[in-house]
Amino acid sequence: MYWLRPAVAALAALAIALPAAAQKDKDYEPHVGQAGKDVIWVPTPDGVVERMLRMAQVTPNDYVVDLGAGDGKIAIAAAKKFGARALGIEYNADMARHAQRNVERAGIAGRARIVQGDIFISDFSQATVVTMYLLPALNLKLRPQLLAMRPGTRVVSHSFSMDDWEADETSSLDGRRAYFWVVPAAVAGAWTLELAGGGTAEKLEVTLEQRYQKIEGSVALGTMLGGLREARLRGYLIAFAYVDDKGVRREFSGRVSGARMEGSFRADNGTEGRWSATKK
Ligand SMILES: C[S@@+](CC[C@H](N)C(=O)[O-])C[C@H]1O[C@@H](n2cnc3c(N)ncnc32)[C@H](O)[C@@H]1O
Repeated sequence: MYWLRPAVAALAALAIALPAAAQKDKDYEPHVGQAGKDVIWVPTPDGVVERMLRMAQVTPNDYVVDLGAGDGKIAIAAAKKFGARALGIEYNADMARHAQRNVERAGIAGRARIVQGDIFISDFSQATVVTMYLLPALNLKLRPQLLAMRPGTRVVSHSFSMDDWEADETSSLDGRRAYFWVVPAAVAGAWTLELAGGGTAEKLEVTLEQRYQKIEGSVALGTMLGGLREARLRGYLIAFAYVDDKGVRREFSGRVSGARMEGSFRADNGTEGRWSATKK
């Protein structure tokens, strides 16, 4: 039996060497309702997780960040079912380790990761999709940061809306709601619009007003201001139309990139071409 002694001693030494955190983590079992920093842990049901990720049309090109990751289930689903890269930010350190273990067990450690952190001081600006299940007041606190993200970033929230930033879609499942938004480009202000093509080369002044993704505006037509119609903004994609001083409807669609927009136009009279606009 003497031969056992070194093995036992080695095991004992290994146990001592195990980081205290890993040992603690092994015993850790989260319970629904446990404290987080700003909100308790309640997991989103699987069906709602699936709908949230479908609403955002997550693909393998996406980088999904779940704010307040809990046991990691949203980040895990985004990576495992949708092939995305995913990050979960969880304040509770025990929970963050537990969630990271869940990631490893799911065999997607190459694509998903859970980190311990406070969502209010974390940089998640590189996300293409942000998911959350927090509280109305926390959504509102995050709103300025979300609105400052790259235009086109998709945001999905379980249960809680974003006050007067109306959702682009609301879905319901078993009495639970999921809200979806696309971060709009900032387009409010005066723009110089230049048209080229169809035998025209014109310069016009366009003014846009914006409330989140809702836009309206006008175009200077000589001494008159013609109203824009069918004005739409979805992320960085913009569209609008107006009727010119000869009664011809011109329809524009294009992309916004900072202080510049460009795209194509066509008119009722058959003319079409390219347009660009620069912010004044
Ligand atoms: C309602 S649970 C949602 C968990 C997960 N997102 C889901 O939908 O299943 C909210 C989680 O946010 C965490 N949390 C609370 N305040 C936080 C903060 N300031 N930063 C990061 N996580 C936080 C809580 O510990 C909890 O796990």
